[in-house]
Amino acid sequence: MDASARERAAGFARRFGLAMPVLLAPMAGACPVPLSAALANAGSMGAMGAVLSRPEEIGEWMARFREASGGPAQVNLWLPDAPPRRDAAAEATMRAFLGQWGPEVPAQAGDATPADFDAQFDALIAARPAVASTIMGVLAPAQVARLKAAGIAWFACATTLEEARSAEAAGADAVVAQGFEAGGHRGAFDPRAADRQLVGLFSLLPRLVDHLSVPVIAAGGIADGRGIAAALMLGASAVQIGTAFLRTPEAALPSAWADVLATAEPEDTAPTRGFSGRLGRGLATPYVRALAESGVAPAPYPVQRGLTAAMRAQAVRENRIDGMQAWAGQSAWMAPSRPAAEALHEWWNHAQALLP
Ligand SMILES: Cc1cc2nc3c(=O)[nH]c(=O)nc-3n(C[C@H](O)[C@H](O)[C@H](O)COP(=O)(O)O)c2cc1C
Repeated sequence: MDASARERAAGFARRFGLAMPVLLAPMAGACPVPLSAALANAGSMGAMGAVLSRPEEIGEWMARFREASGGPAQVNLWLPDAPPRRDAAAEATMRAFLGQWGPEVPAQAGDATPADFDAQFDALIAARPAVASTIMGVLAPAQVARLKAAGIAWFACATTLEEARSAEAAGADAVVAQGFEAGGHRGAFDPRAADRQLVGLFSLLPRLVDHLSVPVIAAGGIADGRGIAAALMLGASAVQIGTAFLRTPEAALPSAWADVLATAEPEDTAPTRGFSGRLGRGLATPYVRALAESGVAPAPYPVQRGLTAAMRAQAVRENRIDGMQAWAGQSAWMAPSRPAAEALHEWWNHAQALLP
């Protein structure tokens, strides 16, 4: 017989040294050490989104985290995509479009290269976080063996049952079910398929739970005790929360981004390839809407990331939401501006009261 939601969640928490089955979602550029430490100290797990980090920054982040918390943390990496097909004419059209929203974009801005995954992975092993998490694919057998030998658990993000099955077969210790409500990049293994696989968490979660034997962690649109309890009732062993922590003081987000989150209706967010070339859900700013209506095609990852770098940096410097890569999930409106640990405790207390 199935374990009850409470027993399942308690088993997960015990296994990973947590006081509650509520985790901070890894968010590149939005998971500073103070946010992770505050949550780990409150019985949750810290998270570093390391996709854009140089290898030495992974060790530095973990060292600063360990000074601030004795709790566990996950370090998150992106599996690399195949090298992008370049199209000079299409990039020129995109550069002209971007010039209307930020500084002029030189042709070489598209020469952005992805991070060196192998070097990042070596740094992750050396830094020995409790958990390595991945998105956009699965690790190779030799990499999985290195994690196991180092005593590091592996959480793999999946957006479909097929992806989840391949993660389980590759040796994942838990699978993160990422619903399409989620803020930030979608974890679809095939970058081109991302738009065709936009499954909501209420459909994805039971689908995965009924077919996997490893624990499933629910992510996407969860932003209070009701969402946590609902996910656990649907079979999740734990939840991961991203957007709902973005307005906490510890996240230290640019105020223009944090303020718009508070008033964003669910339909004020949209999936876009307009920032990196990979599909991600963010605030539907005038830039995002204009790009969608223009018919101008974003370049593949990471070319588009390079092309938009100057626009994004200028928007952050000027604290202007337009042009900012302002990722947001559909439950952004629920994100509290209170200290992270306070919100965590309130949500978990409420979830426990709701669970049978
Ligand atoms: C600002 C931001 C950055 C993100 N960066 C990453 C990332 O680097 N790696 C990753 O696996 N997921 C990333 N995500 C997705 C989250 O891990 C998680 O799936 C999502 O936040 C859950 O949905 P929610 O935002 O509705 O809570 C990011 C999300 C946000 C909002």
